[in-house]
Amino acid sequence: MGMHLAQTLHGLEDARIVAVADPSEEARNKAAAAFNVPAFADYRELLERPDVRAVLVAVPNYLHRETVVAAARAARHIFCEKPMALTVADCDAMIEAAQKAGVKLMVGQVLRLIPVFAKTREIIASGALGEPICLAITRIGGGGFRGWRRLKEYVGGILFEVNAHEFDFMRSVAGEVASVYAAIGRYVEDPHDYEDTALVTLKFRSGAIGHLHASRKSEIGITDGIIQCTRGTITYNWGTNRIEYKPLEGEKKTVEPAEMPTEDGVHREMRSFVEWVLDDVPPVVSWKDGRAAVEIIEAAYRSAATGEPVELPPGSKATTDKHRETQMIL
Ligand SMILES: NC(=O)c1ccc[n+]([C@@H]2O[C@H](COP(=O)([O-])OP(=O)(O)OC[C@H]3O[C@@H](n4cnc5c(N)ncnc54)[C@H](O)[C@@H]3O)[C@@H](O)[C@H]2O)c1
Repeated sequence: MGMHLAQTLHGLEDARIVAVADPSEEARNKAAAAFNVPAFADYRELLERPDVRAVLVAVPNYLHRETVVAAARAARHIFCEKPMALTVADCDAMIEAAQKAGVKLMVGQVLRLIPVFAKTREIIASGALGEPICLAITRIGGGGFRGWRRLKEYVGGILFEVNAHEFDFMRSVAGEVASVYAAIGRYVEDPHDYEDTALVTLKFRSGAIGHLHASRKSEIGITDGIIQCTRGTITYNWGTNRIEYKPLEGEKKTVEPAEMPTEDGVHREMRSFVEWVLDDVPPVVSWKDGRAAVEIIEAAYRSAATGEPVELPPGSKATTDKHRETQMIL
């Protein structure tokens, strides 16, 4: 992912890769050759270079906190891959370090920027379908992971590694989450030491409800979603790259790939990062989004462990009148 981010950023008009770091000799030599720049085994040496104004952090999940805090202390602007970190406490330490140093911190919640998701959000945000009331999102597939991604200690679990994306998308559609209830299990023996399948239910402060079906052990792969709104319904399919929606009054419409944004998600986030650093243009996703996804995930694992719903922020009963009303109707 680091190479993908770096190549995309390097292709922009106002940004250049000037150095790379990776403890893997093979990986850093490949990157150094691709950009014709110096390479370091230890990222702390890279942070000492005066020509490094900003960093792209795409190290394994468990190293995000350490790397981001070091970059902030070196006063470099930071783009950090998702998941922001493996605990909310770690996210807060990263945010505090960035704020103390006065540097920008963006988190790569890219899924919401991918054309089929960006277009779905755009249609909902137009108000043509009314307010979102129920989101049913599916991301299931098979194949498994290799290396550090097989160990919970490094990856955090499936919700961190994969579904930080879906939670961010759901939040970008329906707003802040009020409570989380989850059932999570490891049903199939394989070389991973953590869960393979999860069902997570969200209640949003708006009163909307949402549901994610996540699995890395389904022989049929599905990445789709259906979002009911007060005045219409929309469904997207990432696999076929199609959207269909039907307003209450009006015909069902299909959105073909040609009608979607042409800029791919990673290009959009890299462009936004550069525009934020150089021109102070507000970012398309920020640390707030990265932290919120981690907060939902942490709550989901806590809920699965206790069998109880978890209110957000943790320990609060921060429900709006609308949310309370919905609970009463239910
Ligand atoms: N946004 C997305 O869609 C997306 C896709 C893939 C990965 N990611 C995220 O990107 C991150 C990296 O994933 P990946 O697939 O590239 O993993 P990877 O294992 O392919 O690459 C990680 C690289 O980091 C290097 N590394 C390890 N420790 C380091 C350190 N201390 N300093 C510098 N480099 C170090 C490794 O040697 C390796 O080359 C993860 O957080 C992952 O969740 C995001």
